[in-house]
Amino acid sequence: METLVVDHPLVAHKLTTLRDAGTDSPTFRRLTDELVTLLTYEATRDIRVADVTVQTPLKVAEGTRLTRPAPLVVPILRAGLGMLEGMTRLLPTAEVGFVGMARDEHTLQPATYADRMPGDLSGRQCFVLDPMLATGGTLAAAVRMLSDRGADSVTAICLLAAPEGLETVAEKLAGTLDPESGATLRVVTAAIDERLDGRGFILPGLGDAGDRLYG
Ligand code: PRP
Repeated sequence: METLVVDHPLVAHKLTTLRDAGTDSPTFRRLTDELVTLLTYEATRDIRVADVTVQTPLKVAEGTRLTRPAPLVVPILRAGLGMLEGMTRLLPTAEVGFVGMARDEHTLQPATYADRMPGDLSGRQCFVLDPMLATGGTLAAAVRMLSDRGADSVTAICLLAAPEGLETVAEKLAGTLDPESGATLRVVTAAIDERLDGRGFILPGLGDAGDRLYG
C-alpha cells in the first residue's frame, strides 16, 4: 500500500482551520470541500488517460482524454458525503456509488448499512472518500467490498489518518490488491496524526468529522 501525504501550504492552512474547535459547521463544510479538491488533484495523478488529437481553430494538436469506463467515486456515508462535491467538481464524469458504514462506539467495528454500488467493477479505477482513517476498520472493509467486485485500483482520499489505522489497512488488505498483478491501493491524506485515543479518535485530529459536518 502506498501512502501520500500532500505537503502544500494551502492544504496545511485549511486543515489547521478544520482542526480548530471554534470553526463553525458552515465553515467546516466549505473548507472540507476545498481541501478535497486540492487532495483530488494529487490523488488523480495516475488516472487513466489516452492520447487523442484535437482540432484547434488553427491546426491539429496532441491531447489527452480520460478513458472509459469512468472512475467510480465512493463516499462512505455519512461523513464522506461532505467530500463528494469537492471531488466531482474536478471529475464531473465520474460515476458515484454509495456505501453506508457506522463504527460501533464500543467495539469500534464498522457495520455496513447501505450498499449502492455497481455489482461488477472489473478493471475499474475507484476513489473512496472518507475524512477520517482512525482504526482503519471502515476503510479496510470498504476496499474489500470494491476488490471483491473486481476493482483493481483503489485510492482512498482522507483528510486525516492515524498511523495505527494505516498499518491495519495495509495488514488487513495484504494480498487483496496485489501489486504484482498490476493492482494498486493508495491512501492520499492531508496529514498523518500522532495516534488514537482510547475511544478510537485521532489525536490531535479534528473531532468527529460527521458531527462537525452534519451536527
Ligand atoms: C467515522 C469516519 C470513518 C470512520 C473511521 O465515521 O467518518 O468512516 O469513523 O473510523 P475507523 O477508521 O476506526 O473505522 P462514523 O462511523 O463515526 O460514521 P459517520 O460518518 O456517520 O459519522
